[in-house]
Amino acid sequence: MKVAILGATGKTGSSVVSGLLESTEPLYEITALIRPSSLEKAPAQELRQKGVNVVAADLSWPEDRLTEVLRGIEVVISTIDAANLLSQIPLANASKAAGVGRFAPCSFATVAPPKGVIILRDLKEDVLNHIKKIYLPYTVIDVGWWYQITLPRLPSGRIDYAVNPGEPEITGDGNTPSALTDIEDIGRYTARIIADPRTLNRMVFAHSALYTQNQVYDLIEKLSGEKIARKYVSSEDIQALIAKAEAEQDGPQSPNFYKLASYQYRNSWGIRGDNTPEHAQYLGYLNANELFPDMKGKSFEAYCKDVLDGKGYAVYR
Ligand SMILES: NC(=O)c1ccc[n+]([C@@H]2O[C@H](COP(=O)([O-])OP(=O)(O)OC[C@H]3O[C@@H](n4cnc5c(N)ncnc54)[C@H](OP(=O)(O)O)[C@@H]3O)[C@@H](O)[C@H]2O)c1
Repeated sequence: MKVAILGATGKTGSSVVSGLLESTEPLYEITALIRPSSLEKAPAQELRQKGVNVVAADLSWPEDRLTEVLRGIEVVISTIDAANLLSQIPLANASKAAGVGRFAPCSFATVAPPKGVIILRDLKEDVLNHIKKIYLPYTVIDVGWWYQITLPRLPSGRIDYAVNPGEPEITGDGNTPSALTDIEDIGRYTARIIADPRTLNRMVFAHSALYTQNQVYDLIEKLSGEKIARKYVSSEDIQALIAKAEAEQDGPQSPNFYKLASYQYRNSWGIRGDNTPEHAQYLGYLNANELFPDMKGKSFEAYCKDVLDGKGYAVYR
Protein backbone atom coordinates (compact mmCIF):
# COMPACT_ATOMS: atom_id res chain seq x y z
CA MET A 1 0.00 0.00 0.00
CA LYS A 2 1.42 3.40 -0.99
CA VAL A 3 1.44 5.86 1.90
CA ALA A 4 2.72 9.44 2.02
CA ILE A 5 3.57 11.07 5.35
CA LEU A 6 3.85 14.74 6.10
CA GLY A 7 5.86 15.29 9.30
CA ALA A 8 7.89 12.06 8.99
CA THR A 9 10.92 13.68 10.65
CA GLY A 10 8.97 14.62 13.80
CA LYS A 11 8.29 12.69 17.01
CA THR A 12 4.89 11.29 16.03
CA GLY A 13 5.94 10.96 12.39
CA SER A 14 9.04 8.91 13.27
CA SER A 15 6.87 6.47 15.19
CA VAL A 16 4.47 6.23 12.26
CA VAL A 17 7.32 5.56 9.83
CA SER A 18 8.69 2.80 12.11
CA GLY A 19 5.26 1.23 12.51
CA LEU A 20 4.67 1.19 8.76
CA LEU A 21 8.14 -0.22 8.08
CA GLU A 22 7.54 -2.98 10.65
CA SER A 23 4.23 -3.98 9.08
CA THR A 24 4.15 -7.08 6.89
CA GLU A 25 0.40 -7.23 6.31
CA PRO A 26 0.05 -5.02 4.45
CA LEU A 27 3.49 -4.05 3.25
CA TYR A 28 3.79 -0.29 3.00
CA GLU A 29 5.68 1.71 0.41
CA ILE A 30 6.43 4.98 2.21
CA THR A 31 6.94 8.43 0.75
CA ALA A 32 7.97 11.23 3.12
CA LEU A 33 6.77 14.67 2.05
CA ILE A 34 9.57 16.93 3.24
CA ARG A 35 9.65 20.70 2.99
CA PRO A 36 12.54 21.83 0.74
CA SER A 37 14.39 23.55 3.63
CA SER A 38 14.63 20.19 5.48
CA LEU A 39 15.53 17.94 2.53
CA GLU A 40 19.27 17.79 3.23
CA LYS A 41 19.07 17.70 7.04
CA ALA A 42 20.02 14.59 9.02
CA PRO A 43 16.45 13.37 9.75
CA ALA A 44 15.65 13.29 6.02
CA GLN A 45 18.89 11.43 5.34
CA GLU A 46 17.98 8.89 8.03
CA LEU A 47 14.62 8.32 6.34
CA ARG A 48 16.37 7.62 3.03
CA GLN A 49 18.65 5.13 4.78
CA LYS A 50 15.57 3.30 6.07
CA GLY A 51 14.27 2.90 2.53
CA VAL A 52 11.74 5.73 2.64
CA ASN A 53 11.23 7.63 -0.60
CA VAL A 54 11.97 11.25 0.35
CA VAL A 55 10.34 13.86 -1.90
CA ALA A 56 10.06 17.63 -1.71
CA ALA A 57 6.66 19.10 -0.94
CA ASP A 58 5.93 22.63 0.12
CA LEU A 59 2.41 23.28 1.36
CA SER A 60 2.56 26.78 -0.08
CA TRP A 61 3.06 25.39 -3.61
CA PRO A 62 0.10 25.71 -6.01
CA GLU A 63 -2.32 22.85 -5.29
CA ASP A 64 -1.89 21.28 -8.74
CA ARG A 65 1.86 20.89 -8.06
CA LEU A 66 1.08 19.17 -4.73
CA THR A 67 -1.47 17.03 -6.56
CA GLU A 68 1.23 15.76 -8.92
CA VAL A 69 3.38 14.75 -5.91
CA LEU A 70 0.46 12.71 -4.55
CA ARG A 71 -0.51 10.88 -7.76
CA GLY A 72 -0.71 7.13 -7.08
CA ILE A 73 -0.64 7.55 -3.28
CA GLU A 74 -3.39 5.57 -1.52
CA VAL A 75 -3.14 6.99 2.00
CA VAL A 76 -1.85 10.35 3.23
CA ILE A 77 -0.95 10.72 6.92
CA SER A 78 -0.14 14.06 8.49
CA THR A 79 1.78 14.42 11.74
CA ILE A 80 2.57 18.11 11.34
CA ASP A 81 3.32 20.12 14.45
CA ALA A 82 0.71 22.18 16.25
CA ALA A 83 1.85 25.53 14.85
CA ASN A 84 1.05 24.55 11.27
CA LEU A 85 -2.20 22.61 11.52
CA LEU A 86 -4.18 24.78 9.12
CA SER A 87 -1.56 24.37 6.40
CA GLN A 88 -2.94 20.83 5.99
CA ILE A 89 -5.88 22.30 4.06
CA PRO A 90 -4.03 22.61 0.72
CA LEU A 91 -2.70 19.09 1.29
CA ALA A 92 -6.26 17.83 1.76
CA ASN A 93 -7.35 19.59 -1.44
CA ALA A 94 -4.43 18.11 -3.37
CA SER A 95 -5.19 14.65 -1.91
CA LYS A 96 -8.77 14.92 -3.13
CA ALA A 97 -7.62 16.00 -6.60
CA ALA A 98 -5.07 13.15 -6.74
CA GLY A 99 -7.70 10.54 -5.83
CA VAL A 100 -6.13 9.60 -2.46
CA GLY A 101 -8.29 6.93 -0.82
CA ARG A 102 -7.78 7.98 2.80
CA PHE A 103 -6.42 11.07 4.55
CA ALA A 104 -5.40 10.84 8.20
CA PRO A 105 -5.07 14.46 9.35
CA CYS A 106 -2.84 15.32 12.27
CA SER A 107 -4.68 14.49 15.47
CA PHE A 108 -2.70 11.86 17.45
CA ALA A 109 -3.72 13.47 20.73
CA THR A 110 -6.07 13.03 23.67
CA VAL A 111 -9.82 12.51 23.44
CA ALA A 112 -11.67 15.82 23.77
CA PRO A 113 -14.91 17.33 22.52
CA PRO A 114 -14.67 18.97 19.10
CA LYS A 115 -14.71 22.63 20.07
CA GLY A 116 -14.24 24.97 23.01
CA VAL A 117 -12.00 22.91 25.31
CA ILE A 118 -8.53 22.82 23.70
CA ILE A 119 -7.51 25.41 21.13
CA LEU A 120 -5.42 22.84 19.21
CA ARG A 121 -8.42 20.55 18.99
CA ASP A 122 -10.43 23.48 17.59
CA LEU A 123 -7.88 23.87 14.76
CA LYS A 124 -7.88 20.11 14.11
CA GLU A 125 -11.66 20.20 13.87
CA ASP A 126 -11.44 23.06 11.36
CA VAL A 127 -9.22 20.83 9.22
CA LEU A 128 -11.61 17.88 9.64
CA ASN A 129 -14.58 20.04 8.69
CA HIS A 130 -12.74 21.04 5.54
CA ILE A 131 -12.01 17.37 4.76
CA LYS A 132 -15.72 16.61 5.11
CA LYS A 133 -16.67 19.63 3.02
CA ILE A 134 -14.69 18.24 0.08
CA TYR A 135 -15.82 14.61 0.77
CA LEU A 136 -12.25 13.42 1.14
CA PRO A 137 -12.20 9.93 2.74
CA TYR A 138 -10.54 10.23 6.15
CA THR A 139 -9.55 8.56 9.40
CA VAL A 140 -8.84 10.50 12.58
CA ILE A 141 -6.47 8.74 15.00
CA ASP A 142 -6.16 9.77 18.64
CA VAL A 143 -3.80 8.10 21.08
CA GLY A 144 -4.18 9.62 24.54
CA TRP A 145 -1.23 11.25 26.32
CA TRP A 146 2.32 10.03 25.62
CA TYR A 147 3.96 7.93 28.35
CA GLN A 148 7.06 10.00 27.64
CA ILE A 149 5.49 13.18 29.10
CA THR A 150 3.63 11.53 31.98
CA LEU A 151 6.19 10.67 34.65
CA PRO A 152 7.17 13.16 37.38
CA ARG A 153 10.84 13.67 38.28
CA LEU A 154 12.19 11.66 41.21
CA PRO A 155 13.91 13.44 44.13
CA SER A 156 17.19 11.59 43.35
CA GLY A 157 17.23 13.01 39.80
CA ARG A 158 17.60 9.44 38.54
CA ILE A 159 15.06 9.76 35.73
CA ASP A 160 15.59 13.45 34.90
CA TYR A 161 17.21 12.34 31.64
CA ALA A 162 13.88 10.97 30.36
CA VAL A 163 11.12 13.19 31.75
CA ASN A 164 9.82 16.71 31.22
CA PRO A 165 11.92 19.43 32.81
CA GLY A 166 10.30 21.60 35.49
CA GLU A 167 8.71 20.89 38.83
CA PRO A 168 6.06 18.16 38.62
CA GLU A 169 2.49 19.15 39.45
CA ILE A 170 -0.70 17.18 39.90
CA THR A 171 -3.77 18.62 38.22
CA GLY A 172 -6.89 18.90 40.41
CA ASP A 173 -7.14 16.14 43.02
CA GLY A 174 -5.13 13.75 40.86
CA ASN A 175 -7.92 11.18 40.76
CA THR A 176 -9.11 11.68 37.17
CA PRO A 177 -8.34 8.72 34.87
CA SER A 178 -6.62 9.55 31.61
CA ALA A 179 -5.60 7.33 28.68
CA LEU A 180 -1.90 6.88 27.92
CA THR A 181 0.18 5.37 25.10
CA ASP A 182 3.89 4.89 24.47
CA ILE A 183 4.88 7.17 21.59
CA GLU A 184 6.70 4.13 20.12
CA ASP A 185 3.38 2.31 19.73
CA ILE A 186 1.59 5.08 17.80
CA GLY A 187 3.01 3.84 14.52
CA ARG A 188 2.04 0.22 15.21
CA TYR A 189 -1.54 1.25 15.90
CA THR A 190 -1.54 3.51 12.85
CA ALA A 191 -0.29 0.71 10.56
CA ARG A 192 -3.29 -1.41 11.57
CA ILE A 193 -5.85 1.39 11.53
CA ILE A 194 -5.13 2.80 8.07
CA ALA A 195 -5.34 -0.62 6.39
CA ASP A 196 -8.74 -1.46 7.85
CA PRO A 197 -11.92 -0.70 5.89
CA ARG A 198 -13.88 -0.45 9.18
CA THR A 199 -12.02 2.73 10.06
CA LEU A 200 -12.80 4.66 6.87
CA ASN A 201 -14.52 7.99 7.62
CA ARG A 202 -14.30 7.26 11.33
CA MET A 203 -12.39 8.47 14.36
CA VAL A 204 -10.32 5.79 16.10
CA PHE A 205 -9.01 5.89 19.65
CA ALA A 206 -5.90 3.81 20.43
CA HIS A 207 -4.52 3.65 23.96
CA SER A 208 -2.48 1.22 26.04
CA ALA A 209 -3.17 2.29 29.64
CA LEU A 210 -5.57 4.28 31.82
CA TYR A 211 -4.13 5.94 34.95
CA THR A 212 -4.93 8.77 37.32
CA GLN A 213 -2.01 11.03 38.20
CA ASN A 214 -2.03 9.74 41.77
CA GLN A 215 -1.75 6.19 40.39
CA VAL A 216 1.20 7.28 38.22
CA TYR A 217 2.95 8.68 41.32
CA ASP A 218 2.08 5.56 43.35
CA LEU A 219 3.54 3.30 40.66
CA ILE A 220 6.82 5.12 40.13
CA GLU A 221 7.25 5.49 43.90
CA LYS A 222 6.73 1.74 44.34
CA LEU A 223 9.11 0.83 41.50
CA SER A 224 11.83 3.31 42.49
CA GLY A 225 11.53 3.16 46.29
CA GLU A 226 11.50 6.99 46.35
CA LYS A 227 8.83 9.32 47.73
CA ILE A 228 7.77 12.34 45.64
CA ALA A 229 6.29 15.52 47.18
CA ARG A 230 2.82 15.89 45.65
CA LYS A 231 2.05 19.44 44.58
CA TYR A 232 -1.63 19.77 43.66
CA VAL A 233 -2.88 22.60 41.42
CA SER A 234 -6.59 23.24 41.94
CA SER A 235 -9.18 23.44 39.22
CA GLU A 236 -9.71 27.13 40.10
CA ASP A 237 -6.00 27.82 39.59
CA ILE A 238 -6.00 26.02 36.23
CA GLN A 239 -9.05 28.03 35.09
CA ALA A 240 -7.27 31.26 36.11
CA LEU A 241 -4.13 30.21 34.21
CA ILE A 242 -6.25 29.44 31.13
CA ALA A 243 -7.98 32.83 31.32
CA LYS A 244 -4.65 34.67 31.62
CA ALA A 245 -3.03 32.71 28.77
CA GLU A 246 -6.13 33.21 26.62
CA ALA A 247 -5.87 36.97 27.04
CA GLU A 248 -2.15 36.94 26.22
CA GLN A 249 -2.01 34.52 23.26
CA ASP A 250 -1.65 35.84 19.77
CA GLY A 251 -2.13 32.93 17.36
CA PRO A 252 -0.44 29.55 16.73
CA GLN A 253 3.03 31.01 16.22
CA SER A 254 3.11 32.76 19.61
CA PRO A 255 4.66 31.08 22.70
CA ASN A 256 1.59 31.94 24.79
CA PHE A 257 -0.52 29.85 22.42
CA TYR A 258 1.33 26.74 23.65
CA LYS A 259 1.03 27.85 27.25
CA LEU A 260 -2.72 28.15 26.72
CA ALA A 261 -2.91 24.77 24.99
CA SER A 262 -0.92 23.09 27.77
CA TYR A 263 -3.23 24.45 30.53
CA GLN A 264 -6.25 23.49 28.44
CA TYR A 265 -4.89 19.95 28.04
CA ARG A 266 -4.45 19.67 31.81
CA ASN A 267 -7.99 20.93 32.32
CA SER A 268 -9.26 18.43 29.74
CA TRP A 269 -7.49 15.23 30.86
CA GLY A 270 -6.87 16.17 34.49
CA ILE A 271 -10.09 17.87 35.57
CA ARG A 272 -12.87 17.39 33.01
CA GLY A 273 -11.82 13.77 32.45
CA ASP A 274 -12.29 13.96 28.66
CA ASN A 275 -9.48 11.53 27.83
CA THR A 276 -11.15 8.20 28.59
CA PRO A 277 -12.43 5.29 26.48
CA GLU A 278 -15.99 6.03 27.69
CA HIS A 279 -15.87 9.60 26.41
CA ALA A 280 -14.26 8.40 23.19
CA GLN A 281 -17.18 6.05 22.67
CA TYR A 282 -19.68 8.84 23.41
CA LEU A 283 -17.92 11.08 20.88
CA GLY A 284 -18.23 8.39 18.20
CA TYR A 285 -14.72 6.92 18.15
CA LEU A 286 -14.02 3.30 17.32
CA ASN A 287 -11.80 1.65 19.94
CA ALA A 288 -8.57 0.21 18.50
CA ASN A 289 -8.35 -2.29 21.36
CA GLU A 290 -11.67 -3.77 20.25
CA LEU A 291 -10.82 -3.60 16.54
CA PHE A 292 -7.44 -5.32 17.04
CA PRO A 293 -7.68 -7.50 20.18
CA ASP A 294 -4.40 -9.23 19.25
CA MET A 295 -2.49 -5.94 19.41
CA LYS A 296 -1.08 -4.96 22.79
CA GLY A 297 0.86 -1.76 23.32
CA LYS A 298 3.66 -1.61 25.89
CA SER A 299 2.26 -1.45 29.45
CA PHE A 300 2.89 1.70 31.45
CA GLU A 301 4.61 -0.35 34.16
CA ALA A 302 7.02 -1.84 31.61
CA TYR A 303 7.74 1.67 30.34
CA CYS A 304 8.45 2.90 33.91
CA LYS A 305 10.86 -0.01 34.47
CA ASP A 306 12.67 0.84 31.23
CA VAL A 307 13.06 4.45 32.33
CA LEU A 308 14.40 3.38 35.74
CA ASP A 309 16.83 1.06 33.91
CA GLY A 310 18.18 3.96 31.85
CA LYS A 311 16.39 2.88 28.68
CA GLY A 312 14.10 5.91 28.29
CA TYR A 313 14.65 9.17 26.45
CA ALA A 314 13.40 12.74 26.65
CA VAL A 315 11.05 14.11 24.02
CA TYR A 316 11.32 17.71 25.23
CA ARG A 317 14.34 19.61 26.54
N1 LIG B 1 -0.58 12.69 22.46
C1 LIG B 1 0.33 13.47 22.99
O1 LIG B 1 0.68 13.38 24.17
C2 LIG B 1 0.99 14.49 22.09
C3 LIG B 1 2.11 15.22 22.54
C4 LIG B 1 2.69 16.14 21.64
C5 LIG B 1 2.18 16.29 20.35
N2 LIG B 1 1.08 15.55 19.98
C6 LIG B 1 0.48 15.67 18.63
O2 LIG B 1 1.39 15.26 17.67
C7 LIG B 1 1.36 16.18 16.58
C8 LIG B 1 2.76 16.21 16.00
O3 LIG B 1 3.60 16.74 17.00
P1 LIG B 1 5.08 16.26 17.16
O4 LIG B 1 5.53 16.78 18.49
O5 LIG B 1 5.19 14.83 16.82
O6 LIG B 1 5.75 17.14 15.99
P2 LIG B 1 7.28 17.51 15.81
O7 LIG B 1 8.15 16.50 16.44
O8 LIG B 1 7.43 18.94 16.22
O9 LIG B 1 7.42 17.38 14.24
C9 LIG B 1 6.73 18.21 13.37
C10 LIG B 1 6.88 17.71 11.96
O10 LIG B 1 6.13 18.58 11.10
C11 LIG B 1 6.98 18.99 10.05
N3 LIG B 1 6.56 20.33 9.60
C12 LIG B 1 6.38 21.42 10.38
N4 LIG B 1 5.96 22.44 9.63
C13 LIG B 1 5.89 22.00 8.37
C14 LIG B 1 5.51 22.60 7.13
N5 LIG B 1 5.12 23.86 7.06
N6 LIG B 1 5.53 21.83 6.03
C15 LIG B 1 5.90 20.53 6.10
N7 LIG B 1 6.27 19.91 7.24
C16 LIG B 1 6.25 20.64 8.35
C17 LIG B 1 8.38 18.97 10.61
O11 LIG B 1 9.28 18.84 9.54
P3 LIG B 1 10.77 19.47 9.48
O12 LIG B 1 11.70 18.30 9.61
O13 LIG B 1 10.80 20.09 8.14
O14 LIG B 1 10.88 20.47 10.59
C18 LIG B 1 8.32 17.70 11.47
O15 LIG B 1 8.49 16.56 10.67
C19 LIG B 1 0.90 17.52 17.17
O16 LIG B 1 0.14 18.26 16.25
C20 LIG B 1 0.05 17.07 18.31
O17 LIG B 1 -1.26 16.95 17.89
C21 LIG B 1 0.50 14.67 20.82
